[in-house]
Amino acid sequence: MRHLLNPLDFSTEEISHLLDLANDIEHNLPKYAHVCDGKKLATLFYEPSTRTRLSFEAAMLNLGGSVLGFASADSSSAAKGESVADTIRIISCYADICAMRHPKEGAPLVASQFSSIPVINAGDGGHQHPTQTLTDLLTIRSLKGRLDNLTIGLCGDLKFGRTVHSLINALVRYTGIRFVLISPQELKVPDYIRTDVLDKNHIEYKEVDNLDAAMPELDILYMTRVQKERFFNEEDYIRLKDSYILDKQKMKLAKEDMYILHPLPRVNEISVEVDKDPRAAYFRQAQYGVYVRMALIMTLLEVEKPC
Ligand code: NCD
Repeated sequence: MRHLLNPLDFSTEEISHLLDLANDIEHNLPKYAHVCDGKKLATLFYEPSTRTRLSFEAAMLNLGGSVLGFASADSSSAAKGESVADTIRIISCYADICAMRHPKEGAPLVASQFSSIPVINAGDGGHQHPTQTLTDLLTIRSLKGRLDNLTIGLCGDLKFGRTVHSLINALVRYTGIRFVLISPQELKVPDYIRTDVLDKNHIEYKEVDNLDAAMPELDILYMTRVQKERFFNEEDYIRLKDSYILDKQKMKLAKEDMYILHPLPRVNEISVEVDKDPRAAYFRQAQYGVYVRMALIMTLLEVEKPC
């Protein structure tokens, strides 16, 4: 039995297969309508979510399966003090696969050790968010036609943004990837990403604080929200929250074929006037998230691709 806790749990070859399957799903949706008939997905969300939880649920429903779960810790027995280990033992009796989001780093890993069904990490604290990464990889591959030889700008909260940590982890395995890490001094990537991921893999990167200066060289700009819920004090959040606002003026500095991604939710970091720009890909990205989660559920449940 396999789980997905970290983007590196799949080899690049397995990721390539998964993205191929997601592409086939995108173009032949009705063909997949019954491949998970009778199967159940449990969504265990101890932290707020719109896209991740609902796209998991939409994915399972699109495959003919059904869904059950909870959308906040308050409405689960966690509020009574139940451990993640006990909860997952119980969920294993009710469902065939589960997606878990938790504020504590490592909670889905603990769950996987007590589970008899596949566990998918749907975001653990400021750590990892592997299904967002699969979504991002599918979006980049679909729009640019490749996952190698790209200059990727990551902008905003690179310290607490788990989507950024997972995406860097996944992309360093492709050749010719360069990163431009754009953030205020206080929100730079954690040391373990710099040393254990970037330096260790001899990846070319620079850390800058000026978005305008970085724009012209980027093939992808990945914008992120400042992660309010992970700050220790509100003053710091208020000071940093509007560090970057991508607007029409800034878009003039970008290449014609540069795409903007954002895991969403957006707060202020992308002005709504940018939504109309054909390079704004964040809503398409959310749609790709459903296809890739369908492919992932099929893969972990070892469901055959229909002919
Ligand atoms: C992200 C998350 O939860 O980490 N959202 C998502 O899943 N699409 C990004 C965020 O909350 O800023």
